[in-house]
Amino acid sequence: MSDSPVTLQPGVLAMPRVGEPFGVVDDPPVRVPLAGRVVRGYDVLGTRCADERRLFRFRWILGHQMCFLLWRVLGDVTHRGSGEKPDPRSLELMAACVDGYSSAMLYASTVPRAHYQIHLRVSMALQHPSFSGAWAADYRPIRWIFRNRAPWQADGSCPALARAIARNHVVHDRVADHLVPQGHSLLQESAGHPGTAAPGEKEDLYDNYFLVIRRPVNRPAFLTQFDSRVGALSADLAAHGFFPEIEGRHHPIPESETGPTKDLVADALRPLLRARQLMAEERFAEDQIPEDTRR
Ligand code: HEM
Repeated sequence: MSDSPVTLQPGVLAMPRVGEPFGVVDDPPVRVPLAGRVVRGYDVLGTRCADERRLFRFRWILGHQMCFLLWRVLGDVTHRGSGEKPDPRSLELMAACVDGYSSAMLYASTVPRAHYQIHLRVSMALQHPSFSGAWAADYRPIRWIFRNRAPWQADGSCPALARAIARNHVVHDRVADHLVPQGHSLLQESAGHPGTAAPGEKEDLYDNYFLVIRRPVNRPAFLTQFDSRVGALSADLAAHGFFPEIEGRHHPIPESETGPTKDLVADALRPLLRARQLMAEERFAEDQIPEDTRR
C-alpha cells in the first residue's frame, strides 16, 4: 500500500472574473521551475491508498480546477481576435488545452462508481440539487467552440482542434457512463423540483464547491497556480497510479485503456505539459517572470 507522501489537500484557486483581463504584475509570485516538480512515470493500474476518501475528493477538485485554468486560456485565445480564425500557433495551443481538459476530466473521474455515488455526487447535490457542469463560469465563453459553431471551424481547416474536441466529447460521455450509468445528471433529475438557484447564484455555488475564488490575478500568478497543480497531479499519479486499487481491485473507466482515450490514460501529463509550454511560447504569459527568478 502506498503510504502517500503526497499531500492530498486541494488548494483554493484564484481566478479572474470571466470577461475581466489579467491584473498587472505588482507582486510577482515565487516561481519554482515546473520541470523540477513533475514526476513523469506512473502505473496505469496503481496501488492502494491509505485514505481513499481524501484521494478522490482531491482528484475531483484538482481535476476540475485544471479544467478551469485550461478553459480560461482557451477563452482568452479564442476571443482576443475580432472573430477571425486564430493563427496556427494559437490553434495548436487551443488543441493542447482541449486535450489537457480531456486528460484532467479523466483524472478527476478515476473514482470508483460506488464511491462517487455515495460521496462526491451526494456532496454536489447538497451544494445544490441541480448542480451541473453547465454552471461553470469559465466554460461559458468557449461553449460555442465545443459545439464547432465558430465560423472558422466550418471549413475543416483546423483538424487537430476538431479531433481534440471530438475526443473530448467521447471522454465526457465515457466519464458520465462510468459514474452515472443510469444516465441522468443532477440537473436532469431535479427538473420540476423546487429550489432553483437565483440568477447569478449558480456560478458562485459552482465556484464555491470547487474552492474557486474570483479576484484579480496576474499572469505569473495564474501560471504558478497551473504549475503547482500539474506538480500535485503528477505526484499523486506517481504514488497511486492512474486507477488506484480499491477494495482489492481496480476500477478503470470502461474502454479507457483501449479506445481513443488510451494515450491520455497512459500519459495524462503530456497534453498538460504541452499546453503549458505553448502558453509560454505563445506569449499568453507575456509578462511572466523568468523561470529561475527567486525571492
Ligand atoms: C470531471 C468531470 C466532468 C466535467 C469536467 C464535466 C463538464 C461539463 C460541462 C462543462 C458541461 C456543460 C456543457 C455545455 O454547457 O455545453 C457539462 C454538462 C453536462 N454533463 Fe458533465 N462533466 C463531468 C462529469 C459528468 C458526469 C459524471 C456526468 C454524469 C451524469 C455528466 C453529465 C453531464 C450532462 C447530462 C450535462 C448537460 C447539463 C446537465 O444536465 O447537467 N458530466 N459537463
